[in-house]
Amino acid sequence: MNIREKVLQAFQAEYGGDPTWITRSPGRVNIIGEHTDYNDGFALPMAIDYATWVALKPRSDRVVQATALDKGQMLEFNLDDISKGKGGWEEYLTGVAWALQGEGHQLGGWEGVFAGDVPIGAGLSSSAALELALARGFCLVSDLEWDPRRMALVCQKAENHWVGVNSGIMDQMVSACGKEGYALLIDCRSLETSQVPLPESARVVILDTSTRRGLVDSAYNERRAQCEAVACHFNADALRDVTQEQLLDKAGIMNTLLYQRARHVISENQRVLEAVEALERGDAESLGRLMNESHRSLRDDYQVSREELDQMVEIAQDEPGCYGARMTGGGFGGCAIALVDADQVEDFEYNVPRKYLRQTGLEPKVYVSRASDGTSYEVFS
Ligand code: GLA
Repeated sequence: MNIREKVLQAFQAEYGGDPTWITRSPGRVNIIGEHTDYNDGFALPMAIDYATWVALKPRSDRVVQATALDKGQMLEFNLDDISKGKGGWEEYLTGVAWALQGEGHQLGGWEGVFAGDVPIGAGLSSSAALELALARGFCLVSDLEWDPRRMALVCQKAENHWVGVNSGIMDQMVSACGKEGYALLIDCRSLETSQVPLPESARVVILDTSTRRGLVDSAYNERRAQCEAVACHFNADALRDVTQEQLLDKAGIMNTLLYQRARHVISENQRVLEAVEALERGDAESLGRLMNESHRSLRDDYQVSREELDQMVEIAQDEPGCYGARMTGGGFGGCAIALVDADQVEDFEYNVPRKYLRQTGLEPKVYVSRASDGTSYEVFS
């Protein structure tokens, strides 16, 4: 049974009728442009086939009652009295309500159920998927206009200031604005987006190393602080405004670690722009080369990879038909991504996990995903 059916049936069983709406919002994988979003730079993610679905109907009072099907847990709260709970999925629900109300929106209550198939903790943004699917529901119930960019910002605020995870804007933007068949170029300063066609001849393969490390980790915040320190050194608002030449000029006098961090961000922004040009020419080989360079830069300069990610990337890169591979997402665990020739993807899917298991003793997971649409909904009754 697909997830849409699952939430529909669970809703009918719980409430004895159809929901008014079902909302959906996808997870994401980043093709290139890592750790650039909080530097006002460029990122090129795509929304994936895995998503969170919410089936809901409005209530006449200000109570929200939601069941997380995968957890078998229910939360009920009043919109006039939102407080932090014990952590976990509940914080995303109360956090989105809190952030929407913080924008001055008058929200209505609702009841419903939700479930998703975005792997949790794998770096595929199950949290952004949940936030946006819930935000879509709140907007329908409350008759609010749906502006995907604004809603991405609202959900980021929930994540940063309520859940307490200091993430950039990429995940929420692509979950909200993704487009089937396209990667999404995001200018993380202006929040302008454009759709970039993915090559017909290649497939995006997501390789989950089965290693985990949460974002709440201090390493992410430390990288952010290091980037801010370099921007400040150049009197710039963000690393987006510092050029490779300016950085090179300071090579001899700058702290080596800070220099490496900045070199990653500045070169990664450039790689995103080159990747877009490559995609516009349908040039999978150049995109693959840029992905390989991105991995090297994340591993050596930004130092957010780990042994298993490096092993997965190397195994993938050595496989016939692989244009390129890199770690994807925040790092320190989770997934790699490979761009693979469509005709050779079956062998790739067969060989890579076996080799990885043999080398690491870890059982990986492999997902081949098309680029899917961002947040959407359907009307029932
Ligand atoms: C995490 C964050 C994103 C982004 C990436 C690194 O996924 O949620 O905002 O910073 O790390 O590119």
